[in-house]
Amino acid sequence: MKGLILSGGKGTRLRPLTYTRAKQLVPIANTPILIRVIETIRDAGVSDIGIVVGGDTAAEIQTTIGDGSQWNVKITFIEQASPDGLAHAVKISEDFLGDDSFVMFLGDNAIEGGIRDLIRDFDDNDWNSQIVLKAVDYPQFYGVAKLREDQSIDYLIEKPQDPPSNLALVGIYMFDKHIFKAVNAIKPSSRGELEITDAIQWLVDNDYRVFPHVHDGWWVDTGKAPDLLVANSYVLEELVPHIAETATIDADSEVDGRVTVQAGAKIINSVVRGPTIIGENAIIENSYIGPFTSVYHGVVVQNSEIEHSILLEDSRVEDLDMILRDSLIGRNAVVKSDKNKKPRGLVMNVADHSRIWI
Ligand code: G1P
Repeated sequence: MKGLILSGGKGTRLRPLTYTRAKQLVPIANTPILIRVIETIRDAGVSDIGIVVGGDTAAEIQTTIGDGSQWNVKITFIEQASPDGLAHAVKISEDFLGDDSFVMFLGDNAIEGGIRDLIRDFDDNDWNSQIVLKAVDYPQFYGVAKLREDQSIDYLIEKPQDPPSNLALVGIYMFDKHIFKAVNAIKPSSRGELEITDAIQWLVDNDYRVFPHVHDGWWVDTGKAPDLLVANSYVLEELVPHIAETATIDADSEVDGRVTVQAGAKIINSVVRGPTIIGENAIIENSYIGPFTSVYHGVVVQNSEIEHSILLEDSRVEDLDMILRDSLIGRNAVVKSDKNKKPRGLVMNVADHSRIWI
C-alpha cells in the first residue's frame, strides 16, 4: 500500500493567507495541515508516500517536507504542471504508484480518528475502491453520493446544484490499479478538470467494486477561513496538553490544565484557558488567551484579550481594548491600538482580499 497526497491547489478561498504560502502549510493547532496528513497516513502503517505539488507552492512544500525522514516516511514529489483536477493528479502519479493499491488524501483535509481502520478494511476485502462519506449541511459544495437502500452506491455527482443526498465525499479515497483505466477514460468536467468523482463513477458503471464508508467523527476541508477555525478547535480538543521544560510561566499567571506551551514561550502576568496552544518563543504579557486559540511561534501578545483565533508566526497583537475573537492573523501582521495618538481613528495597511470586522 502506498500513499498519495494531493497538494497542488492554489488556495484562492484562503486569501490573503495563501498569497504568500501554500494552503496546506497553514498550521492548525501549530502543526501544518500537510504534516498532520503525513502523520495520519504513517500512523496507519503506510510509509511510501507521493505528494503531488504544482505551481508557485511546489518549492515551499518541498523545502518544508524534504525527504520525509523527519516523520519516518519516504516522500516522492510529483509535479503537476497545471491544475487539471484530482483525477489528473492520479494519472500523472502512475509511475510512482505502479500496481500497488493506494490511499489518496487531499492535503487540506483533516479527519478525526485517523485512517487505520479504513486501510485495514480495504486490505481485508477485494474492493477496487473505498470512498469515505460524511453527512454535511451544505453538500452542494462537495462531491455527493447517492446510496441505495442496501448502502451500495447508486451514483456520485460533483458539486450538484440540487444535491440528491447530504453525503459528501470526504477527501480520502482508496484505490487499486483499476483507477488508472478510469482516469484515462473520463473527459474533463464543465469546470475543465478531470474529476475524481467522475473516475469513481466510471468504476461503478463498469462493475468494479466501490465500497462506501460513512464517517461518524468530525471532518474538515480547511479550504475556507471559517473552516480553519473549526478544524483548529477540533484538533486543539484532541491535543494532549504539555508544558515544555524551557517555557516560563510566571507566578502572576494562571494557565489551566488544557494548555500546551511550547519551548521557550513566556507567559507573564496573564491568564490562559485551554484548549489552547502557545508556540515556541511566543510572549504573552498582561493578556488573556481564551479557549480554541492557537498562538504560533514567535508571536507577541501584550495588553490584549484573544479567543477562538489563529495567530500565525511572528505576528503581534498589542494594547487592544476589545476582545479579538474568531480571527486569523497572518505572519508578521501587527494588530494594535494607539490609544494616545491624536486624532483618534482607524489606521490600516490591509492586504488584497483581507476582511476586517469592527
Ligand atoms: C474536492 C472533490 C470533492 C470533495 C472535496 C473534499 O473538491 O472534488 O468531491 O468532496 O474535495 O474536500 P475541491 O475541494 O477540490 O473543490
